[in-house]
Amino acid sequence: MSDEIKKGLLGIIVDETTVSQVMPDINSLTYRGYAVQDLCEKCSFEEVAYLVLNKELPNKKKLNNFKKQLEENRNITKNLREIVRHMPKKSHPMDVARTVVSVLGLEDKKTNDNSPKANMEKSIRIFAKTPTAIAAFFRARKGQKIIPPKKKLSFSENFFHMCFGKVPNKEIIKAFDVSLILYAEHSFNVSTFTARTITSSLSDIHGAITGAIASLKGPLHGGANEEVMNMMNKIKKPDNALNWINNALDKKEVIMGFGHRVYKKGDSRVPTMKKYFKKVAKVKGDKKFHKIYDVVESVMIKRKNIHPNVDYPTGPTYHLMGFDTDFFTPIFVMARITGWSAHIMEQHSSNKLIRPLSKYSGEEYRQVVPLNQR
Ligand code: COA
Repeated sequence: MSDEIKKGLLGIIVDETTVSQVMPDINSLTYRGYAVQDLCEKCSFEEVAYLVLNKELPNKKKLNNFKKQLEENRNITKNLREIVRHMPKKSHPMDVARTVVSVLGLEDKKTNDNSPKANMEKSIRIFAKTPTAIAAFFRARKGQKIIPPKKKLSFSENFFHMCFGKVPNKEIIKAFDVSLILYAEHSFNVSTFTARTITSSLSDIHGAITGAIASLKGPLHGGANEEVMNMMNKIKKPDNALNWINNALDKKEVIMGFGHRVYKKGDSRVPTMKKYFKKVAKVKGDKKFHKIYDVVESVMIKRKNIHPNVDYPTGPTYHLMGFDTDFFTPIFVMARITGWSAHIMEQHSSNKLIRPLSKYSGEEYRQVVPLNQR
C-alpha cells in the first residue's frame, strides 16, 4: 500500500454515485443523467427535487402528489417556532439552520429508523420544514411577526411569502428557482462527503444533514456566496472595481466566488446563473452590482485564469431579491437538502464504514512520568 498522502483527498475516487456527474473537461453537470442547464430551462425546482430524490423526473400526477406532500409538511411545531424565536438575534442563520435540523430530529418519531421508506419520508419532512424555520428566524431576529407557510404556493413562492409577506413577479421567482436547481446537488463536495461519512457509521439522516450544514457554512464551500456580497459591498461602486481587484490580487488575497477544486476551466453552473442574475439586475434596476461583477470576473480570468464558481452570481442575485447577506448560505441549504438526502440514502443502500488512514508524525514513543515526578 502506497503511503503517499493526498491532502484534501485530491484526485481520490472514494465511491460510486448515481446522483450526479461533474464533468470538468466538457464543462458539464448532470443530475441523474439530465444536463443541469436543460433542467433549469424546462423544469421547476420541485420537479428537480423529485428527480434528485427519486431518480426519475415525475409525470404530472407524481409531481402533484409530491407538491401536496411538501405543502402538508411545511408547518413546524409550536415548540420549534418558539425555539427559533428565542435564538440569540445575533446568531449566524447557518447556525440556526443547523440547530433547526437537529431539533427536527428530536421531534421526528422515525429518527432512528434507517429503512429506505423512513429515510425518504424524513428527507421530505426536513426539506419541507427547514425553509419555514429559516424564514421564521429571518423575521424574528428583526422583531417582525413570523409568517406561517401557505399552501398552493410553489416552494420558491412560499419562501418569499414567509420572509417578506408577499410573492414577487414571475421573473424573480424563476431566477430563484434556477438558483435552487443549480444548488441542489454537486456530487462528492465536502458537505455531501460529510453527510456520507456520518451515514457510514449507520447514524441517522438528521445527524448527517446537521453535519453537512456545518460543513457548508465554511467560506471555502457554501459560505462563499455570503463572502461575494461582502466583497461587492466593500468595492461599493463600479469605478472602484478595477483598482480593488488588482490590489487584492497584488496582495495575494483569495477572491471569494472564484476557483473550484474540480472545475479548472469554469463552473458549468455559472453561465445559467449569470444569465438569471443579469435578468434580476434588469428587473430591479440595478446600477452597480452587474457592472462590478463584470470587472472583477474579467480581471480574475485575465490575470489568474481563474473562473467564477456558482456562488459568484448567486450572491448579488439574492441581494437584489432583498435577502439579508447572511441568509444566502441557508438558502443554499434549502436546495442542497435534496442532494444530501439522495446521497445519504445511496450510502445506506451500499454502505461501508468510511475510515481512512493517517501517517503518524507526532512524538516518538515515550513513557509516562508519574504526576509527582513531572
Ligand atoms: N482567488 C485567488 N487565488 C485563487 C483562488 C481565488 N479564489 N482560488 C485558487 N487560487 C489560487 C491559489 O492561491 C493557488 O495559487 P498558488 O498555486 O500560487 O498557491 C492556485 O490558485 C490553486 O488553488 P488551490 O487553493 O490549490 O485550489 P483548490 O482546488 O484547493 O481550491 C477552492 C479550490 C474553492 C478552495 C479555492 O479556489 C478557493 O478558496 N476559492 C474561494 C472560495 C470559494 O469561492 N469557494 C466556493 C467553491 S464552489
